[in-house]
Amino acid sequence: MPAASTEGPHPAPRFAAAAGRALLHWYEAERRDLPWRRTTDPYRILVSEIMLQQTRVETVVPRYARFLQRFPDLTALASAAPDEVLAEWSGLGYYRRARSLHAAARAIVHEQAGEFPREYGALRALPGIGDYTAAAVAAIAFGEPHVGIDGNVNRVLCRYFGVAEAPTRAAVRRQLTSAAASLLDEHAPGDVTQALMELGARVCTPKSPGCADCPLGPRCIAAAEGTQELLPVRRKQEIRNVLEAAGVVARGGRFLLARGQRPGVLADMWEFPTRDSRLRQSIVAEGDDDPADDLRRYLAELGQEVVSLRPVGEIRHGITSRRIACTVYRADSLATGARPAPENAELNWFTRAEARQLPLAASAKRIFELLQSGT
Ligand code: ADE
Ligand code: SF4
Repeated sequence: MPAASTEGPHPAPRFAAAAGRALLHWYEAERRDLPWRRTTDPYRILVSEIMLQQTRVETVVPRYARFLQRFPDLTALASAAPDEVLAEWSGLGYYRRARSLHAAARAIVHEQAGEFPREYGALRALPGIGDYTAAAVAAIAFGEPHVGIDGNVNRVLCRYFGVAEAPTRAAVRRQLTSAAASLLDEHAPGDVTQALMELGARVCTPKSPGCADCPLGPRCIAAAEGTQELLPVRRKQEIRNVLEAAGVVARGGRFLLARGQRPGVLADMWEFPTRDSRLRQSIVAEGDDDPADDLRRYLAELGQEVVSLRPVGEIRHGITSRRIACTVYRADSLATGARPAPENAELNWFTRAEARQLPLAASAKRIFELLQSGT
């Protein structure tokens, strides 16, 4: 095992073997009996690690079982249509993960004869598989000497090693990675990784960590210096307030939905026609400040001449760094005949029941609920 790097302003102390043993003893006594801890099937471990990246364990447990029932192995997943996978992912959020998982399954089945890659480098080379997933799967499924550093593990490591720089910086990440590797001496890498995850989730929590009960307590730099709650240092990310306007156009029991309206995380999801408006704080250009006007113009582009727009409520939701307040309008409209949808957008009419079968954005679900709640 390579010794921890001693370059840079924060030499990472070598993890004492005693601390590694204490960590694993703690884990053996405290580990939760989770479904992905009862398997050695790399496909199942891959699914769990991708689901667990941005979703809490309690939420993942039932969805994991359902997903595996629907797609029990790599071949089943690889032969599914993208929409089927997205629909099965519905409600878990961060849909890019579902696309990554699907792409990785297809690459293994079609390009590697179904042979699951066993090494970090080969896993990392799969489409959509990043450092964390490659390291976690290499360690947990194949016992390779890596530590998957997710948010929880990152917090434990930054505190334990007293890393007082933002771990988003590449140099700091490298240092953490090599410091983490020093934990592995003579221990099962999958257990060390999961012990650190468990510790981060249950003891070394963001607020008020339980240092008195922590197996790493005696050697933890943050605990010694009283800086637990100051670490990890974060780079400030601004949260932007955004206003949106969504239009509900209904005709004969069907609703007009669109997808591909905007790039990014929502690109594959069906939504009500929606306009992202200006930022709340921005200077308002005259005549251009009303999201309803913007929505009216947009619906016209979609071939709907709006006769009246009636606000029916507001939903609030957040994606990544945006806090969104979306006003929902019922639009009475006249069809102005077929027009081509704006670039990349796809439009269609769906009944509520049909919409339930689609990969539907969370905002659209909320809007359907809003409509149902008596307006
Ligand atoms: N979070 C990410 N991976 C996990 C795992 N294997 N067990 C528990 N929580 C996790
Ligand atoms: Fe986290 Fe406290 Fe344990 Fe250090 S001693 S790893 S800060 S819980």
